Amino acid sequence: MTSLDVQSVISDNGTDSIDRGHSLSFWEVIRRDQRANRINPKGQLVLLAFRLSHIFATRKDTNRLLWFAGLPIMILYRLFVEWILCIELPAKTDIGPGLKLDHGHALVVNDHARVGSDCTLRHCTTIGCKVLPSGEQGPSPTLGDRVDVGSNAVILGDISIGNDVVIGAGSVVIRDVPDRAVVAGNPASIRHYR
Ligand SMILES: CC(C)(COP(=O)(O)OP(=O)(O)OC[C@H]1O[C@@H](n2cnc3c(N)ncnc32)[C@H](O)[C@@H]1OP(=O)(O)O)[C@@H](O)C(=O)NCCC(=O)NCCS
Repeated sequence: MTSLDVQSVISDNGTDSIDRGHSLSFWEVIRRDQRANRINPKGQLVLLAFRLSHIFATRKDTNRLLWFAGLPIMILYRLFVEWILCIELPAKTDIGPGLKLDHGHALVVNDHARVGSDCTLRHCTTIGCKVLPSGEQGPSPTLGDRVDVGSNAVILGDISIGNDVVIGAGSVVIRDVPDRAVVAGNPASIRHYR
C-alpha cells in the first residue's frame, strides 16, 4: 500500500490546478494530515479513518470487490465519525493532503464538494449544495489550496473558492471568491486581500 499513488487512492476525479496530493504516496498524505493536526489527536484520528475509508469508498464503480471488502471499515467510519463525533466528512469526498480539522464538531461536507491541500475547516461549518427547483441536489463548492474557513461558515452551491482565501466566522458564501481574498458576512463580501 505504501507505493500506491494517491491519484488512485485519494481521488479519481482527474486533474486541475488544485493540489490534491496526486503525486504523493498514501503515507505522505497521512503525514501531512497528522502534521496539520499535530496538537489535535481527534483531528488526527478522524483524518486517518477518512483516508483509509476513502480508499474503499472511491472504488465502488471501478473495483466492486475492493469496495465490498472495505464495507466494514466504511460502516465503522460512518458510525464513529458521523454518528458519534458528529463530523459529516463522507469517505468518498475529494480532499487534498494536510486538512486541518479545528474542533470539528458539527462539520458537514457534501460528498461532491472538493477541497484543496492544507485547508482548515472549523466547527459548525457547512460546505454543501443548493436544492434545485426540481428538488434534486445541485453542485457543491470547490475550495482551492490553503483555504482557511472560520467557524459557523456556510459555503453553498456551484462556486469556486480560490487559493489562500480566508472565510470569516459566520459567513454565508454563495459566490466565487478570488485568490487571497478575505471574505466575511452574509452574504459574504471581500473585505481585503492577504
Ligand atoms: C474574517 C477574519 C479573518 C478577518 O480578520 P482581519 O483580517 O483581522 O480583518 P478585520 O478584523 O480588520 O475586519 C475587516 C472587516 O471585516 C469585518 N469582519 C471581520 N470578521 C467578520 C465576520 N466574521 N463577519 C462579518 N464581518 C467581519 C470587520 O468588521 C471589518 O469591517 P470594516 O472594515 O467595515 O470595519 C476574522 O474576523 C474571522 O472571522 N476569522 C475566523 C476565525 C475563527 O473562526 N475563529 C474561531 C476559533 S475557535
